[in-house]
Amino acid sequence: MLNTLAPLPLVFPLHKFCLYPFAFMEENENQTHIAVIGCGYVGLTTAASLADLGHSVIGVEISPERLESLGHGKVPFFEPDLEELVNSGLKRNNLVFTSDLKSAVSQAQFIFVCVPTPSQDDGSADLSVVRSVSEAMSGSLVSRSIVILKSTVPVGTCAQVEEWIGRADVEIASNPEFLQAGRAVAAFKSPDRIIIGANTLDAREKVAELYAKISAPIVCTDSHSAELIKYASNAYLASRITFVNNIAELCERTGGEAATVLRGLGLDKRIGEAFLQPGPGWGGSCFPKDTRALISVATEAGSDITLLNAVLESNETRFAQIAAVISQSLNGDQERKVAMLGLTFKAGTDDLRESPSLKIASLLLESGVKIVGYDPHVTTAPLEGLEIVESVEEAIKNSDVLVVLTEWEGFADLDPSKLLELMKGKSIVDTRCVLDRQNFIEAGFSVWQTGQGWGKSV
Ligand code: UDX
Repeated sequence: MLNTLAPLPLVFPLHKFCLYPFAFMEENENQTHIAVIGCGYVGLTTAASLADLGHSVIGVEISPERLESLGHGKVPFFEPDLEELVNSGLKRNNLVFTSDLKSAVSQAQFIFVCVPTPSQDDGSADLSVVRSVSEAMSGSLVSRSIVILKSTVPVGTCAQVEEWIGRADVEIASNPEFLQAGRAVAAFKSPDRIIIGANTLDAREKVAELYAKISAPIVCTDSHSAELIKYASNAYLASRITFVNNIAELCERTGGEAATVLRGLGLDKRIGEAFLQPGPGWGGSCFPKDTRALISVATEAGSDITLLNAVLESNETRFAQIAAVISQSLNGDQERKVAMLGLTFKAGTDDLRESPSLKIASLLLESGVKIVGYDPHVTTAPLEGLEIVESVEEAIKNSDVLVVLTEWEGFADLDPSKLLELMKGKSIVDTRCVLDRQNFIEAGFSVWQTGQGWGKSV
């Protein structure tokens, strides 16, 4: 029964306004009804992609601005191909957005929880949003529905959510997400694997069925194992990049071509060639948060976590090393201008969370260095004292040192003659190895590249 006293929910698109969000969707007996709670980067990709697979999906979003924007087919952050996917779902009528959690879950067979689990001061994951959502939807869930945690959560959270929901007729499953910013849609369509953790075979099979059209190995397991797979994956990848950066830094000191050393390493099939690119250190919304959270979980469990503590520390050291290289290129004159290209944590995203660029910029700003930054997806200053300009040319004009911190496509095409014309100095620090080193050295620049150190000016 419809509760007429309840406040009217916001349902988008507005012309489809109704109290039962699924009601307007074209009736199709075979369609599965899914609610996705949280329309951030993981939730929205999940919602739009599940709709693309043919399911009826309602995305629940608490922010009125984000909700309105989504209802008009506008994705409020940058993620390639996602806006097109959202618009196709809206047009097909099997994707809508609402602010009404209870109404959305009251008609769903599957409920994906995609809400944030940020770091707390002690490094552990803050589960307060998972808890409030669990408690809020508890009374509205349909009997035999399955609540699926996609948010990255510590081992044991499914069991905890089961208590918070407190319904013996509802199952809880874990289905962690491995999306990479910048290729989230592609990764959803062709994942390396799908992990499903639930305590009954029936729930595992039902969740697996949602992905029937996707060709990928499916690992079905218990919820504890599924939760751990996600943390283990991110912590392993973060450790791998730290190791790669350690080897690159060693090459910077001793000589030896890091790119070749790492290729030689990656050709060992047990190691593999992907994810071996040295750089300025890792960042983003996942690696730092998830590594800290795994450390917290392991510490609480009394496990040896020496390796991961060292990984975190070494990543911070990497930021300091790069800042020191830039400082060195200023020859002791902090008044000189640094042109910083690339501010997001990597190319292909507008995400600035825990970005190495900002960590390095902070260290330089603290010592009084003047920085002018350019990034194709950043228009407002993310740090006090960091000036943002709208083009590469503006950034490099009259600069003493050019620093490349993310691998945005256009940066590789920088022309030495243009730099000679616009820059005041002749130093380049290329932390992503995107520039053709020889070209710049021949044009008279001093070039420092990750894994190689400084080249000689000719
Ligand atoms: C990561 C995981 O890859 C993904 O599975 C998980 O769901 C979320 O966290 P993402 O944060 O989008 O994805 O970034 P990713 O491409 O993995 O890169 C993470 C960091 O490592 C970035 O700072 C990136 O620049 C750095 N990196 C990555 C390298 O320095 N070298 C590499 O070879 C790869």
